[in-house]
Amino acid sequence: MQRGGGRQSLGRAPPAPLVCLGVGRRVSCPPAGRGSEGDAPPPSTQVPSEPSPERWSLLCTGKAHPCPAPSERHSLPFTPALTSRAQVQRALLALTIPLEALQAVKDRMLQAMRKGLSRQTHAQANVRMLPAYICSTPDGTEKGDILVVELCQSHVRTLRVTLLGDGNQSPQVTYKIFDMPGDITQGKGEALFDFIAQCLRQFLAGISSPQHRLPLGFVFPFSCRQTQLDKAELISWSKGFSCSDVEGKDVVQLLQSAIKKQELHHVDVVALMNDTVGTMMTCSMRGEPCEVALIVGTGTNSCFMAEAQLVEMAEEISGQMCVITEWGCFGDDGTLSDILTPYDQHVDQESFNPGEKRCTHPPERAGHGQGKEGSGGSGAPAERAGLLPGAADLPGGGEPRRRALRCWAGCHPQPHVPEPGPSPSSFSGRFGEILQSVTGLLAPECMATLLPSVDGTGQGAAVVTAVALRLAAQRHEVDQLLAPLQLSRADLERVQALMRREMELGLGLESHANASVRMLPTYVRGTPDGTERGEFLALDLGGTNFRVLVVRVAQDGIRMASEIYVIPTAVMQGTGELFNHIIECIMDFQLKQNLLEQVLPLGFTFSFPCQQLGLDKAVLLSWTKGFSASGCVGQDVVQLLREAAQRKQHLGLKVVAVVNDTVGTMMSCGYDDPKCEIGLIVGTGTNACYMEEMRNVGTVEGEQGRMCINMEWGAFGDNGCLDDFFTDFDRLVDEKTINAGKQRFEKLISGMYLGEIVRHILLALVEKQLLFRGKPCPKLQTRDIFQTKFLSTIEIDGLALQQVRAILQDLELQASFEDSLLVQKVCQTVSLRAAQLCAAGLAAVVEKMRENRGLAQLAVTVGVDGTLYKMHPRFSQHLQQMLRDLAPNCTVTFLQSEDGSGKGAALVAAVACRGAEP
Ligand code: G6P
Ligand code: BGC
Repeated sequence: MQRGGGRQSLGRAPPAPLVCLGVGRRVSCPPAGRGSEGDAPPPSTQVPSEPSPERWSLLCTGKAHPCPAPSERHSLPFTPALTSRAQVQRALLALTIPLEALQAVKDRMLQAMRKGLSRQTHAQANVRMLPAYICSTPDGTEKGDILVVELCQSHVRTLRVTLLGDGNQSPQVTYKIFDMPGDITQGKGEALFDFIAQCLRQFLAGISSPQHRLPLGFVFPFSCRQTQLDKAELISWSKGFSCSDVEGKDVVQLLQSAIKKQELHHVDVVALMNDTVGTMMTCSMRGEPCEVALIVGTGTNSCFMAEAQLVEMAEEISGQMCVITEWGCFGDDGTLSDILTPYDQHVDQESFNPGEKRCTHPPERAGHGQGKEGSGGSGAPAERAGLLPGAADLPGGGEPRRRALRCWAGCHPQPHVPEPGPSPSSFSGRFGEILQSVTGLLAPECMATLLPSVDGTGQGAAVVTAVALRLAAQRHEVDQLLAPLQLSRADLERVQALMRREMELGLGLESHANASVRMLPTYVRGTPDGTERGEFLALDLGGTNFRVLVVRVAQDGIRMASEIYVIPTAVMQGTGELFNHIIECIMDFQLKQNLLEQVLPLGFTFSFPCQQLGLDKAVLLSWTKGFSASGCVGQDVVQLLREAAQRKQHLGLKVVAVVNDTVGTMMSCGYDDPKCEIGLIVGTGTNACYMEEMRNVGTVEGEQGRMCINMEWGAFGDNGCLDDFFTDFDRLVDEKTINAGKQRFEKLISGMYLGEIVRHILLALVEKQLLFRGKPCPKLQTRDIFQTKFLSTIEIDGLALQQVRAILQDLELQASFEDSLLVQKVCQTVSLRAAQLCAAGLAAVVEKMRENRGLAQLAVTVGVDGTLYKMHPRFSQHLQQMLRDLAPNCTVTFLQSEDGSGKGAALVAAVACRGAEP
């Protein structure tokens, strides 16, 4: 270890003593500058009880004097010299703040912090709460050579930190300190940045540094408006700095161009951070990440990791975001007027920015360490207070204690030239002690651990830069993995065109048989006209729930009663039990509804692809959505129901209509909105129907009027026309289904499959070490373990990542914040694709209807149902947004069906009973 001018140190930084507690908030702080007061005693873990006023004044002054009332504080004599001990005591009392006053300062600070965080009040806030664009803490895998430049009060420190990916346990640190020429901090900004870049060139020349890309972290301890990690505009200088042409400029750019001038083309400024951030990260390298940092030195400041959604000035809505409080300006609006004494007023008047930074009372102004600001130089207030040099060391000496007291409530030590390895910190002295105990008094529910930072911000800055690089590399890999799931406008236009083509093929008599979109005629020729009347039974099979309903259609509206019945998987996939089970449910319902004596017309919503041969005759073409009951495909499902009724001697069954759930939904919504001519389901499965011109329905005789066509668009792409859009994840999902190769469009969109697609993507991310640190996740190997409803929860706006972590915890997945953020991103990507594909399909439908009707503009309503559409926080919005883009000449209104398609089936039955074709 070498010391002195042009100082260099090589090799491993010795581990620092850790003075920490268990849980709760950790507070990190850098070691004191030279001449600080020895190692920090372990902080007391007991949450101190409320001290009596005597005890409090003892704590503050070492003497049991009562604290002066605020009014009294200002009337204290301000004489040039204090001679008697009593006078000294009285002057010191002025600097003693009673606990309740500190409580008040704490509440004011919280208020000021909230003001800073809120977009509405941020501009007027004194405590600026600036986002630092650091959204994660180190995970120990950080690796590589990182350059750091630290702009300090009187010198520039350049470091090369080599991180070994060993949990940052043994960073290799090489550094050099360059004293700054006297007036450079008041000169031209360009000169300052040129000086910094020259230091860097000298430093690199002194160490054998390879010419490969060298990322650089820049520690710039002044308040900046940061818009990203490598973009920060200087708001205002402080601590005696006042270089011209820098305020309002992006200091990263200023440094990068100065570095370029030194022809250091391989050096990239990757991150700029405040010294508080560097400190927090340095301490995070020693076990649990620290989430708060405190600096009290020439200036004072703090930062902490906040929930991103609270930081309204930053666009990030989820995860964490480091916030730099810039609390130095706390009190500039007079908030501290009842705390400030004439001594403070005097120091402020003498400072180079009177009235500003009221909360900043640098030690040198209180007779502690050297300083540039204020004409009085170090110890000014004490002298002003007539205290002789070293008064602070007097038992009960005011300033450090008051600062410690207010620091809690409000400031703290800063090393000037940090030496690597353990060093005493002013936090280790009475200051730390007071800070620790007063924190315990003012925030008993928080357990704060003071963790002195060794080596100031250098290593922390390297870690911030390394974390930024790690996240950037991860983001790049994640973007590559997710890219195939992100569809461009051109992709979606292509899907729209393919859907249109398949629709035409499905409608064509010749081409119908080979079309993937089967465009099945439903024999429903119109939407309800409001004249429907009567009482009907209705069945609703094919969605999440099987429902039996009784529907009364009267002049004054429709009343319904319904019951949900479970269809056990064994019945869904059994051998012919299904229709027996349905009849048992109907009989149970009729019994409960006292309908057994009545023979009510029944409308049957059967949500599977059927060749409709009449209103009450439909042949099942294939099962979907996990159904595979044998003996049904190719059969008339109405006949199957009637036969089951006979088997059960249930003679009261009168099926008059069978409809698809899309048709039922269209009819149900059409009863309230006559413009509803499209039915859409996005639930377990997905499908759509619409009113097509009979002249275009090649598979049904007749040219007049319209007929509702059940598109069965779930099978779109089964003929391979969508293969370019299938990703490996989609193939993995499809292969594991009981109808592999079928319902390809449905498997990209509907609720039965989205969770599975996400699960496979998460497994791929784990395999690439991009998620859960690559730790194997046995639970995630289980099919259907990641349910689609998780997507709906995880994507709720502003959902705290904590809740995402909770969902993952239930799946035995220990997720970090980044992991939760990544899982959220995967869910968003998968559901967005589903919504956009659905929009492309619907755009093909509305555009066809518009052309059918020769309209320049079409206004139409879509009756929609399905759990995914209804429950997912963003699906409908994304679908409608993309539909507007893809079909700009159509005004499409979405009407959510409240009563499901059972009502629709009853309305179709009502029309059927009227003997008319509905
Ligand atoms: C409603 C309708 C059903 C339809 C279902 C689809 O419940 O009444 O006819 O099948 O929505 O959505 P789901 O999410 O249940 O599959
Ligand atoms: C079925 C359709 C049904 C859709 C929505 C699909 O699997 O084939 O008939 O409309 O799911 O439930």
